[in-house]
Amino acid sequence: MFSKNLVTLLTLALGAFAQDATAPKGSDVVKLDTSSFNKYIESHPLVLAEFFAPWCGHCKNLAPHYVEAASILKEQNISLAQIDCTEDQELCMNQGIRGYPSLKIFKDGDAGNSLEYEGGRSTESIVNYMIKQSLPPVQVFDDEKEFNKVLKESVQPVVFFNGNKGLNETFYQVANRLFNEVTFVSYSGAKEYLAVHLPNEDEPISYEGDRKVVEKSADDLEGWVKIESLPYFGEVNGQTFAAYVESGLPLAYFFYNDEDERKEHAPFFTQLGKEHRGKLNFAGLDSRKFGRHAGNLNMKEQFPLFAIHNMSSNLKYGTAQLPEEKYEKLDKPSKLNQKEVSKLVNDVLSGKAEPIVKSEEIPEKQESNVTKIVGKTHDQLVQDNKKDVLVKYYAPWCGHCKRLAPIYEELANVLSSDGKTAKSVVIGDIDATENDVPGVDLEGYPTVILYPAGKNSKPVVFQQERSVESFLAFLKKNGGTKLDFQKVYEKYQANKKAEEDESDETEHDEL
Ligand SMILES: *[C@@H]1O[C@H](CO)[C@@H](O)[C@H](O)[C@H]1NC(C)=O
Ligand SMILES: *[C@@H]1O[C@H](CO)[C@@H](O)[C@H](O)[C@H]1NC(C)=O
Ligand SMILES: *[C@@H]1O[C@H](CO)[C@@H](O)[C@H](O)[C@H]1NC(C)=O
Ligand SMILES: *[C@@H]1O[C@H](CO)[C@@H](O)[C@H](O)[C@H]1NC(C)=O
Repeated sequence: MFSKNLVTLLTLALGAFAQDATAPKGSDVVKLDTSSFNKYIESHPLVLAEFFAPWCGHCKNLAPHYVEAASILKEQNISLAQIDCTEDQELCMNQGIRGYPSLKIFKDGDAGNSLEYEGGRSTESIVNYMIKQSLPPVQVFDDEKEFNKVLKESVQPVVFFNGNKGLNETFYQVANRLFNEVTFVSYSGAKEYLAVHLPNEDEPISYEGDRKVVEKSADDLEGWVKIESLPYFGEVNGQTFAAYVESGLPLAYFFYNDEDERKEHAPFFTQLGKEHRGKLNFAGLDSRKFGRHAGNLNMKEQFPLFAIHNMSSNLKYGTAQLPEEKYEKLDKPSKLNQKEVSKLVNDVLSGKAEPIVKSEEIPEKQESNVTKIVGKTHDQLVQDNKKDVLVKYYAPWCGHCKRLAPIYEELANVLSSDGKTAKSVVIGDIDATENDVPGVDLEGYPTVILYPAGKNSKPVVFQQERSVESFLAFLKKNGGTKLDFQKVYEKYQANKKAEEDESDETEHDEL
């Protein structure tokens, strides 16, 4: 009885909340179709348009927020509109709509151009994002009180400059590029020439570099803003990760177990972030949500965890972890060792730290003439100046790799058949899914690269027909050993033929 009532109650409650994706009549959301669309856009300075379908779940979830935001934004002359794509397929096709809901921003009455809406889906996010769109990219202040108010209230980093001290053109250019994530301000009373104010920090970060550089190059100024507008100790998640990658700096991760643990170490990491500003970014990561990311950093999923990823070299570093058996026996999480963290940071920055390289075990014995290479042996081998080293980077599942395998093996057999080539040329392969090869640019599988003998030689990518002959021609042309591979091949083939003839004869004898 009781449970049945509960089910009924729940159904009723859910029924009450189940939203219609279509905004109710009488709301401030304007319904548009082919006949009204252009005219409406052209007569309104700023419109957010939702292209939707009534059956779409995300559209239903968005609806109450959208309606609420519409009534708030109406006062600011910002309009929210809806287009039902099941009723008006042509308009939606012309707008290039591929999924529901699609949110597009139309500015200055221009129906032919739109911007993707990239904000959140709550009332507050929609309102904040659209107000930002309605403001000029740079807010200009002469009044100290107004300026201080923006610094105090902004939830975004605020980049400001003193409008009287030269910098202007590149500042406006960069503001146009980044104004969704950062607030740009010109304040004639600023003591600083150029600075960033981070939310919840007292002291702004002043630009210390060469003024001529940022005045001339918007790219340089943008690079500086991207680095300095990151928090000293931030948080990595779906929204922020791209900004960390774009900053171009190595990223230091603190994988925490829960909020308390994050809080406990936040001052320590904030301090490190200040100290190593511009060299290394520091961020927390919620191991309950993103714990599996540890694997991408070549670390075990043992938390708390500290790791550094240099994305330009793709090298990964981490503090020591426990053997699996020991970790499983712990009855409560271990504590983050701040001393070890500081040491690793210093070692990485001074180039002393050993990266964690994912690697299969070094094989005890080579089974074939194709040398099996692993992460731990790769670098040393390809740096060998005395040998031409040809490496095939493959994945076990890749079809082209399987087709290449017998050809590659024959190539190795050919070169092993002669004492000189056997000593001077290595034909090797490495399973790139099981072994890290930092610094090697793999655009697909298989990739075959020659590391020629000789000091200062540069790697050469093999991009020809995949046959023994063309591999040999490639080695002759690009290798450092300059041996007569063709002769070796001819001899190999002659030997092979002789063997075959012999076995043919044997067969005849037996008949
Ligand atoms: C909204 O637009 C109308 C007409 O264009 C204008 O008179 C009014 O001042 C605007 N209001 C705001 C808050 O910008
Ligand atoms: C700065 O640049 C903006 C945009 O190009 C321009 O509107 C403004 O007048 C300039 N200000 C100064 C002080 O040169
Ligand atoms: C990260 O890698 C790049 C490219 O190899 C290198 O120039 C830079 O020094 C490295 N940074 C650190 C902190 O190791
Ligand atoms: C290696 O190459 C040599 C010379 O071609 C050949 O005799 C030998 O059978 C090959 N070894 C293997 C394991 O295939």
